[in-house]
Order: sequence, then C-alpha cells, then structure tokens
Amino acid sequence: MLPAVKPMNEITKVTDAAPNAAPVKAAPKLPDTQTVTAVKHWTDKLFSFRMTRPATMRFRSGEFVMIGLMGDVNPKTGKQKPLLRAYSIASPSWDEELEFYSIKVQDGPMTSRLQHIQVGDEIILRPKPVGTLVHDALIPGKRIWFFATGTGFAPFASLLRDPQTFEDYDEIIITHTCRTAGELTYGAELIENLKKDEMMLELLGEENLNKIRYYPTTTREESPKMGRITDLMRSGEAFADLGVDPINPDSDRAMVCGNLAFNLEIKDLLEGYGLEEGANSKPAQYVVEKAFLD
Ligand code: A2P
Repeated sequence: MLPAVKPMNEITKVTDAAPNAAPVKAAPKLPDTQTVTAVKHWTDKLFSFRMTRPATMRFRSGEFVMIGLMGDVNPKTGKQKPLLRAYSIASPSWDEELEFYSIKVQDGPMTSRLQHIQVGDEIILRPKPVGTLVHDALIPGKRIWFFATGTGFAPFASLLRDPQTFEDYDEIIITHTCRTAGELTYGAELIENLKKDEMMLELLGEENLNKIRYYPTTTREESPKMGRITDLMRSGEAFADLGVDPINPDSDRAMVCGNLAFNLEIKDLLEGYGLEEGANSKPAQYVVEKAFLD
C-alpha cells in the first residue's frame, strides 16, 4: 500500500468556460456528493477535472465509476433525478483525489452541463468502481500496449501512474489516436510530467519510467505522425517506427479504450495476432472498454 501522496501533474485551477455559459445549479446535498477541486479546459471539446475522494473509496487503476449532476426539475412531478454517466477514473488508485477527463458535447444531456463546473461545485459520485481495464484481467507478459482514441486515454492516465504497471512489464507502449493535435495535449503533458515527476522518480526510478513509449497519431490535422493506429499496425509502420517486433501472444498484452468502431477493429487485429480477450473472471491476453461519450 502506497502512502497518501500529493497528486502529480496537478491541474491548474483554470475556469475558462464561456462567459455567458449558464451556471451549473448547485446540487442538493446528497450522501454521494463530492467537491470539485480543479478544472482545466484543454480544447473547446475536452476538459479534465479533479474532485475530492471519499476516504473509504477503493478502486483498481483503470476502473470507472458513475458520476453526475442533478437533472432538471420534472415539471409534472416537481422532482429532480440525478443524471449519471460512466467515467473512467484518470487518477491512479493511490491518489488522494479523483481525476476525470471528459468530452464536451454541446447538446449532450450530461456534458453540456458538466463542462461548466467550477472549483467548489458539487458532483454526484456513486463510489462503486468497476471495469475490465485492470491488471487482474491479464495474464503475465513482457510488454503491454495501451491503445486509446480520444477520451479513451483516461483509464491509461490512471494505469500509467500505477506502480504495478511498471512491476508487471518490461515495456509499456501507449498509442493515442485523435482527430487533431490539440486533442493529444492532455496525454502528452501527462506523460512528459510523469517522466520528470520527483515523487514518481523516487518511487519507481528513471529506468522504470523509461519503459514508457508514447506513440501519438492524428487523423484530421497535420502532426509528426498521421494516420489511424489500426492502419499503421496493419502496414507494419507503427512497429517499424517504434523499432519493436509485431505483437505476439507469448509476450504481448493489450488494453483498449476508444470509440466503438475503433474497439472492434483493434479487437480483430489483436485476435489476428493470436491474443485472446480476458475478463476479471477469466484473465487472458487483452481487454477492451468503450470510452465514455455523452
Ligand atoms: P478518423 O478521423 O479517421 O475517423 P472520434 O473523435 O470520432 O471518437 O475519433 C477519435 C479518433 O479515432 C479519430 O482520430 C478517428 O479517426 C479514430 N478512429 C475512429 N474510428 C476508428 C477505427 N475504426 N479505427 C481506428 N481509428 C479510428
């Protein structure tokens, strides 16, 4: 068990929501309510936030929870119901706070409102974490691949800060495919900060942190590496760029989190390399989870 430590990659307390944006109504005090401690807007479509964590809440890095806000008052009944969505926890299990990374969908029932949260606001948290992107669902291997698109990076933001990831594998390769370069920033900054974070360096050592290989790609905007990761794997370009052998079931393990089409395509590819899908109840060589979308 690690000591409670100050979270790294501290998010600055920025609140740059549109000036005319409707304020989020304070949720009535509920037993499951937590308080927002930081908000950072990365692009006009992406933001991350941190909140207090119940002292009794335990989770495994990579899991998700239900979080939300109170919905509008039903004009017929005069009652309000909570509006909840599944969100991957982006912070590691040892962090004293919880971090989340979210898309902003302008007409999405949840994120159209959630994007306006500010420090001090209350968020409903159902503290019952679940999920398959956990080390327990994989059998031992030498190299782990984290495949993400968009906000699917969130569970890997947790796993990349979990010492077990470094204990279990000699090499950690994280691929992140987004439409634009701006959408890569949250992940890119997190990895950059992680490698020079004093606490992580002390805890894991430089050698362990150097196990991380980061392979970001964009599909709709110029960047150093363009293309869908699936295409880059099929052509062999991704393996050549990284200077590694193609995926094989003896040494490679994988976790996948992205949009539905991506998950299906990557599953096909991984099965083609001979990997079998695992679960908490039956650990195997790869696991998949759908990224949250409003
Ligand atoms: P593309 O721009 O070619 O659709 P989204 O924002 O729609 O969730 O997509 C996030 C990223 O995932 C985009 O770069 C998108 O590429 C990519 N993507 C979408 N579907 C697939 C797929 N089936 N295989 C690989 N990448 C995909």
